[in-house]
Amino acid sequence: MDYKKGKYKVRNIKLADDGRKKIEWAESRMPVMMEFRKKYSKTKPLKGYRIAGCLHVTKETAVLVETLVAAGAYVSWSGCNPLSTQDDVAAALAKNGIPIYAWHGMNVKEFYWCIERTLDFKPNLTLDDGADLIFTIHNKYPKMAQTTVIGGTEETTTGVHRLRAMAADGALKYPVIAVNDAETKWDFDNVYGTGQSSIDGILRATSVLLAGKNFVIAGFGHCGSGVAKRAAGMGANVIITEVKPIAALKAALEGYQVMPMDQAAKIGDIFITATGVKDVIIKKHFEKMKEGAIVCNTGHYDCEINLTELAKLSKSKRLIRDNNEEYTLKNGKKIFVLAQGRLVNLAAAEGHPSEVMDMSFANQFMSQIRLAELDRNGIRLDNSVHDIPVEQDQYIAGIKLTTLGYKIDKLTKEQIHYMSDYSEGT
Ligand SMILES: NC(=O)c1ccc[n+]([C@@H]2O[C@H](COP(=O)([O-])OP(=O)(O)OC[C@H]3O[C@@H](n4cnc5c(N)ncnc54)[C@H](O)[C@@H]3O)[C@@H](O)[C@H]2O)c1
Repeated sequence: MDYKKGKYKVRNIKLADDGRKKIEWAESRMPVMMEFRKKYSKTKPLKGYRIAGCLHVTKETAVLVETLVAAGAYVSWSGCNPLSTQDDVAAALAKNGIPIYAWHGMNVKEFYWCIERTLDFKPNLTLDDGADLIFTIHNKYPKMAQTTVIGGTEETTTGVHRLRAMAADGALKYPVIAVNDAETKWDFDNVYGTGQSSIDGILRATSVLLAGKNFVIAGFGHCGSGVAKRAAGMGANVIITEVKPIAALKAALEGYQVMPMDQAAKIGDIFITATGVKDVIIKKHFEKMKEGAIVCNTGHYDCEINLTELAKLSKSKRLIRDNNEEYTLKNGKKIFVLAQGRLVNLAAAEGHPSEVMDMSFANQFMSQIRLAELDRNGIRLDNSVHDIPVEQDQYIAGIKLTTLGYKIDKLTKEQIHYMSDYSEGT
């Protein structure tokens, strides 16, 4: 394919100028990525590599895409969620010659059609968020998985879980780097990014007052704990439901109420799931909920809230505001579901702030370069899920700190010796 005349399918190419302004705004908040762009556009470590990406089409993702291109890669792209594409950003990328297939509000068939178009391009590297691209390659194009693709990277917790399960079964046909598990990703993006943007999505879809509300969060992991802190900061009474004792204990010691969903369902005003697990809110919970309860999800897939069961309990449904559907149950009670149970922060708001994606995408970018460099040196990682090197994490954190204007101390020689010496005690 002639890259510069890249094919594309987006909602409306005329939105490109608006998208370009958004991308420029993101660039101004992503100093690490811009530093990488400057540095690697000279050396072009990705020259000759073809990357297919499947990740939310947002202004921050556009910064990643254009940085990969600046480093020499050919890139084709699709969105990883039917509701998360920002149409103006997709148009701006298309206008810049990127073969991109993404628009907001696509159906599931169109979603997979878009992924497949990025494969027409015969990628040798993949970049995923949720592993749908990797699954498509493994299920429909096994030869491509075995022979063409040399490696991939995965952005999110759910994707990493599934890929580890595939690897354990011997079903993974190429190595994947777990970008999610980098400290500069998991402990920042999921906590501060999902924390802030999920509240942003809830407010844009409802404009309700959070102060004084019973705000139920299912899952007190990285994302859930971030949402909890933000909700509490706005005066909500935070209630946590969990299945892991340690996570529940942490929530209790943070001062939140902890209880099973069966109990929380009766008192919650707003519910958000952040577990990565299906059927967290089901029929029996909807039946117990108060009139006017608001329900949403910020986990990767739309299976955490069982909307099929809610639909069966309901006599009607209507869109009452953007990204806010009112279900009227047969007994007359109303329950409001945001963003069709999909990622509320990406569907109803703009996803994570640029500042935090700066680090997540720095990890994506460095991991793609690592796979290309290993390949150039004739090395291939084994077909499993690999952590990013600790040095990469510290390197990215270091650049981020510097760009934020912070300085830190250095260990002295004596301190380094002390840390590895066991002869000194009291
Ligand atoms: N919205 C976003 O932009 C965004 C960003 C990053 C990650 N994610 C997704 O969010 C989900 C959570 O990611 P994470 O990094 O917080 O994972 P995590 O593993 O840190 O936390 C998940 C927590 O959910 C708990 N849990 C599991 N099943 C539960 C149940 N039935 N009821 C209550 N709690 C339950 C687990 O015990 C765990 O503590 C994943 O699907 C991930 O892919 C979304």
